[in-house]
Amino acid sequence: MDSIIVTGGAPLSGKIAIAGAKNAALTLMPCTLLSDEPLTLTNAPRLSDMRTMSQLLQSLGAEVTSMQDGKVVVLSSHGLTSTHADYEIVRKMRASNLVLGPLLARFHEAEVSLPGGCAIGARPMDIHITALEAMGAEIDLRDGYLYAKAPGGLKGAKVPLRFASVGATENTLMAATLAKGTTVIENAAREPEIVDLAKCLRAMGAQIEGEGTSTIIVQGVDRLHAATHRVVTDRIELGTYMLAPVIAGGEVECLGGKMELVSAFAEKLDACGVAVTETPDGLHVKNRNGRHAAVDVTTEPFPGFPTDLQAQMMAMLCTAEGTSVLEEKIFENRFMHAPELMRMGAEIEVHGGTATVRGVERLKGAPVMATDLRASVSLILAGLAAEGETRVNRVYHLDRGYEQVEQKLSAVGARIERVQGE
Ligand code: UD1
Repeated sequence: MDSIIVTGGAPLSGKIAIAGAKNAALTLMPCTLLSDEPLTLTNAPRLSDMRTMSQLLQSLGAEVTSMQDGKVVVLSSHGLTSTHADYEIVRKMRASNLVLGPLLARFHEAEVSLPGGCAIGARPMDIHITALEAMGAEIDLRDGYLYAKAPGGLKGAKVPLRFASVGATENTLMAATLAKGTTVIENAAREPEIVDLAKCLRAMGAQIEGEGTSTIIVQGVDRLHAATHRVVTDRIELGTYMLAPVIAGGEVECLGGKMELVSAFAEKLDACGVAVTETPDGLHVKNRNGRHAAVDVTTEPFPGFPTDLQAQMMAMLCTAEGTSVLEEKIFENRFMHAPELMRMGAEIEVHGGTATVRGVERLKGAPVMATDLRASVSLILAGLAAEGETRVNRVYHLDRGYEQVEQKLSAVGARIERVQGE
């Protein structure tokens, strides 16, 4: 397995182009299942999770063609042959469960294995199931599979979600586009990826109102048609690279970045004394002279501070002046990076969903283990300022969510390289 070696101490300077959002693309790709006409996605990120979703869609009989070095993906489901999403593919990535809603809506049946993905908590699917059942689906769980059918098709309904789950909102929204009548999703997730999904579905002919608020109203239509859609900027990749100059020193302009995608996160940077400014091309971040200040962070659904930036923020707070308290409210097991950061000299105490970080002047390079996607990149960030060499082992999770991380960081002056594993 590959490792990444970072040698700390090089200040950064330059521009980093932010890719299209992984979490948007992974819900946009299954939209192909809703129509027999082609769907073209531009600004697609080049990630292993995208290849996994392609494989899954191809296993159902969809055609997936990558163009322009993977930045454009054309999908077509005119000749689908199966509604069975197999464990062998689904186990690699939780977002595979996003085929459930579209398959059920168009073909009135689906067999979807329960998903795998990052080991950051239980991540059940009860909210997805309750929502689709409210729309008339019958769903059984047997042998690790969800067997779902909707004889006569899904019906529009009032669908209150017990928690604003991103995936459940996406599955319900996709399913509702072809249901008979009106669906009202209450307590819907408000993430920018949901807004992007609604835009794409609307371009395909769906009738949707209220995305980006807690109530989404969908008027079902008989069929959806061909469309081309540009994937929204990845706010998590954006936030990750915004932290790089804060940790390493220097300044970076994140091209394609928009404040509205990261406002809760940028507020916290401001509280740490870090300047974030909007430029015509993106967001510019400059580290302040001297150490940044500590700050308390609680993760919340959008528009709150994203759980997917918690590990990277912790890496930054390890060298802040003062003590920070991080509260993880979305996933119950998302501090696996803490013991690895402690191997680098960080002072962190974890009690349940709360981590207390006492800032130290400097971290020291060490061999560390990447345990999940965002944890992997937090260790790379920590390595940027650590004394000596940090070797991040088991980086396969990283390739699921960050394209060309070594190239992007070395282009702004970081000393980082990938070494191939045996
Ligand atoms: C998505 C993102 C992930 C991000 C997360 C929260 C994708 C591909 N992944 O994941 O990167 O960290 O949103 O912003 O977009 N839950 C239940 N029952 C359910 C569904 C969820 O209890 O049926 C719980 C989960 O266990 C978790 C919480 O709700 O504790 C949030 O999950 P959810 O919003 O569904 O996240 P995902 O869509 O899986």
